[in-house]
Amino acid sequence: MKGSLRPSVVLFNAMFLFALCVQARVPTFSYIGEPSHSPVSADNFTPHWQAKRWTLENVTRLSDATDEATIAYFIQISESSLPLTPRLLSRIHHPGNFYALHFDKKIPAHRVVALVSQIKNEPRYSNVLVMPREPVTYRGITMVLNNMAAISHLLERGHWDYFINLSGSDYPLVAPEVPRKILAMPHVRERASNFFIVSPKEQWNRTKEYRLERIAVDTALGMSEKPQDSELVILDQTTPLFSKLNYEFVKGEGWLILTREACKFMISSPYARKMLLSMAFSQDASEHFYVSLFWNNPDFNKTIVSHSLRTVYWEVNGKPSGQHPYTIDKLRESDGSYALWDRLRTSPHWFARKFSVPDNEVMDWIDNQMSGLGLDVDEGAVDESTKRMEAHLHWLYGMM
Ligand SMILES: *[C@@H]1O[C@H](CO)[C@@H](O)[C@H](O)[C@H]1NC(C)=O
Ligand SMILES: *[C@@H]1O[C@H](CO)[C@@H](O)[C@H](O)[C@H]1NC(C)=O
Ligand SMILES: *[C@@H]1O[C@H](CO)[C@@H](O)[C@H](O)[C@H]1NC(C)=O
Ligand SMILES: *[C@@H]1O[C@H](CO)[C@@H](O)[C@H](O)[C@H]1NC(C)=O
Repeated sequence: MKGSLRPSVVLFNAMFLFALCVQARVPTFSYIGEPSHSPVSADNFTPHWQAKRWTLENVTRLSDATDEATIAYFIQISESSLPLTPRLLSRIHHPGNFYALHFDKKIPAHRVVALVSQIKNEPRYSNVLVMPREPVTYRGITMVLNNMAAISHLLERGHWDYFINLSGSDYPLVAPEVPRKILAMPHVRERASNFFIVSPKEQWNRTKEYRLERIAVDTALGMSEKPQDSELVILDQTTPLFSKLNYEFVKGEGWLILTREACKFMISSPYARKMLLSMAFSQDASEHFYVSLFWNNPDFNKTIVSHSLRTVYWEVNGKPSGQHPYTIDKLRESDGSYALWDRLRTSPHWFARKFSVPDNEVMDWIDNQMSGLGLDVDEGAVDESTKRMEAHLHWLYGMM
């Protein structure tokens, strides 16, 4: 009997799978991107806000939206993403928003000076702030501190409703008005939604062990100005804190879309300060600090929408990318075409990463066929893209 399945078993399995799909309410787009960091699905995220008050019939449509939220953007720029910055800034720029840029201390000064003076000479960029340069340790706590410093600077700048963090190698798939309108929609506002990925619960304990148990020291905490003094040194010693944490250690990602209230709580509450210190000597704190902070607070817990609205590719044709995601404009087929373009063009998200080549033609296609910011816009394609994005948002809010 081994190896032969009775037809009724096959049929039963097929029906079971079908039932699962229906239950998961997965609409027309499938989640490509990140198998190991899978975003919202019925399995790992049950919407826990109050009974739906909004339905597809009475939710605001993007085409009718008139209110706009003010957004504060933070862009973290490294040496490799520096040449991409002018175009990224021009595509996300809106006169009503606020922007903070941080250039890694490791970038040679003359390259930063040239770009900063170019930005300062543009009158329309009067709402762009250039932060003092600090060494930032990738995977260290100074990454989190830098993000928090950006929030502090931006809070001083004026009133805004939402904070979004980006890297210099990100690129927008929507026009700057789109996030402004969506974040002002009543159903988003009412819930004070905060968007970031919360990984499936089964991963939390293992991640906690891997990242927290051994003491990891970010030497950039020493405040040295020398870029070489920024590294993560992992000791062969366990922390006594490990067994004593009386909060849930939650794994997630560091890509954030946060309300002003959530930002203020993160940078000024004693609770957040204590949690930050408890994670100061852990690895990759930017992927568990924010998520644990908001998850463990009963008020903010209710506001989490487990999605970062970004497209990242961790696999192509079943081949995993490894530690870093695929670079969209580098992955070419033998005929020269871009292996990821067909997937990217149907992405319903707000930003995609990573890009590496300044003014790459993929960016032109995005501008012309997705965001509508290009010189040769295909109105039909932009319209389709916007509809997909709106449908995705409705799905996130459990409306379809
Ligand atoms: C939207 O429609 C649903 C169903 O008709 C209703 O229960 C709900 O109260 C409405 N929500 C708003 C905000 O009008
Ligand atoms: C994680 O570890 C805690 C403490 O050992 C345990 O109570 C809990 O059940 C574990 N959670 C999962 C999902 O394995
Ligand atoms: C925000 O964006 C950066 C990319 O620069 C990301 O790596 C990080 O996890 C996020 N949070 C930070 C810097 O704390
Ligand atoms: C956060 O929400 C989840 C899902 O509804 C729930 O299981 C958990 O207990 C909540 N935690 C807090 C601290 O409110």
